[in-house]
Amino acid sequence: MEIIETISRMKSICQEEARAGKTIGFVPTMGYWHEGHLNLIRAARRKCQVVLVSVFVNPLQFAPQEDYQQYPRDLSRDARLARAEGVDYLFYPSMEEMYPQGFQTAVEVRELSDKLCGKSRPGHFKGVATVVLKLFNIVKPDAAFFGQKDAQQALIIKHMIDDLNLDVELVIMPIVREEDGLAMSSRNLYLNPKERRAATILYKSLLKAKELILGGERKASTIISQMTQMIEEEPLARVDYIALTDADNLQEADVIRGKILIALAVFIGKSRLIDNLILEMPGA
Ligand code: PAF
Repeated sequence: MEIIETISRMKSICQEEARAGKTIGFVPTMGYWHEGHLNLIRAARRKCQVVLVSVFVNPLQFAPQEDYQQYPRDLSRDARLARAEGVDYLFYPSMEEMYPQGFQTAVEVRELSDKLCGKSRPGHFKGVATVVLKLFNIVKPDAAFFGQKDAQQALIIKHMIDDLNLDVELVIMPIVREEDGLAMSSRNLYLNPKERRAATILYKSLLKAKELILGGERKASTIISQMTQMIEEEPLARVDYIALTDADNLQEADVIRGKILIALAVFIGKSRLIDNLILEMPGA
């Protein structure tokens, strides 16, 4: 496996691989991998002949008060995992390489970016779309792999691919969970043992919503208030948002019908965690 640090070298390798007729599977990451990332890498390995993973903690998607500095980083750990998973190339550009002085372009998928997490993290998805398009332009992947945990991010990337006619197949892989249901995230590392236990409330509240819906409840506001009540009973948890939306366009749902995304963001101590569940109502 080769670690590549410059855009020019990464581009020329990708061009060579494409000329040789090989399909490129691309997994963009911010590093400090967990099973969720490895699941994406394995899916890329199964589908494509060349697997390329990027590790870049993208400053554009963090607001000044957020955890950019603190975000866990360990390239040698990621590189070890990459070798074990049969990754061909690890793209590890510096901040100066990605955003040289004078960089001033941004990509925005407007409406989708203003909802859910976009309300609490203004500018976040603009930063995500900008770096992902830049990475796509460098790598020119045949397929790109993202996790369903970041449901809104996945929808935004899908929209960007469609709107800008990019030749990339988007593959969304299911959420990978710990044994107690907590969705895997690099940010789980921030949790102390008490917070780690408290964090299971996110998934428990999603299961509660599912149970209510399967039991016949169709009013979104009732489901949200029951979820809120459940989370508020956990002293270390504070709800950022809970939303029930159309899973394809993030329009808020009053009544449960069709393909529904139940999404939430909850602070556990100082860490903001997200999770979601998609339910397809029969007859939709
Ligand atoms: O999901 C992530 O890890 C990041 O948002 C991504 C897609 C790598 C862009 O920085």
